[in-house]
Amino acid sequence: MSENVIDLQESNGIARLTVNRPKALNALNDEVITALGKALDSLEANARLRAVLLTGAGEKAFIAGADITRMREQTPREAQAFARRALETIKRLERLPVPVVALVNGFCLGGGCELALACDWAVASDNAVFGQPEVQLGIIPGFGGTQRLPRRVGPAMALDLITTGRKIDAAEALRIGLVNRVMPQAALDDYADELAGQLAGNGPQAVGAAKRAVYDGMEQDVDSALALETNLFALCFAGDEQAEGMAAFVEKRPAIF
Ligand code: HXC
Repeated sequence: MSENVIDLQESNGIARLTVNRPKALNALNDEVITALGKALDSLEANARLRAVLLTGAGEKAFIAGADITRMREQTPREAQAFARRALETIKRLERLPVPVVALVNGFCLGGGCELALACDWAVASDNAVFGQPEVQLGIIPGFGGTQRLPRRVGPAMALDLITTGRKIDAAEALRIGLVNRVMPQAALDDYADELAGQLAGNGPQAVGAAKRAVYDGMEQDVDSALALETNLFALCFAGDEQAEGMAAFVEKRPAIF
């Protein structure tokens, strides 16, 4: 197995995960999913972690999808096992208690778009291209796209993209709410550092609780979800962060979490 299909670097609580198969436009195969799982073992165990940036190596692609040359040979049972394993790993990324930002630096197609959808944030370069072209290959999205895309952009636009397989540019991705920001490619890394610093400066317990309230709440009826929010809100008052955040406001100084 290639050792470096995922590159993980960390500095000051900000981790950068890079899918590193640029010759295949960072297409996702079993090795990448396994390496992503190992990187997640390390991130989940890292108490200093404050934010994660996920990107693709090279200037052309974030991730151009699952590896078609591998999927081509799969039986239904093998395809099911591949999708299940990937989905479990992607869910772990989504469930990290810190903000995860997809830095979409080029083609973001199929499974690549589905991985970006499991991130809390998406920042795209102005040359990025998005799409769920699976039906053009005779399959459907299998890394969560049929579920996370309608939750992100609404069912009508999700069905538009999924049933046509059409590609959209970064401006349209911004307009439909698939991404949060669009930057010139040369400015993407600087913006990512600025954003990660901003995210990392907020109360980490509060940010983690906010993620839980949003994701767990979306899976519940609204009354249960509001009760969950109240409980998580109250829990914020049980730790040190609320005291520090509010003291800092009153003392007119930046909070130190
Ligand atoms: C395997 C891929 C790949 C992919 C690109 N490559 N995408 N290999 N799987 N998904 C490889 C090409 O074969 C080529 O290898 C090299 O990367 C460069 O790509 P080119 O096609 O030469 O580049 P270009 O002409 O610029 O076209 C870029 C592109 C095109 C538009 C992104 O590569 C493309 O359409 N790729 C497939 C996109 C796609 O359909 N994704 C969805 C996959 S299905 P060589 O060896 O020839 O240089 C999916 C399902 C997820 O993701 C769920 C699974 C359970």
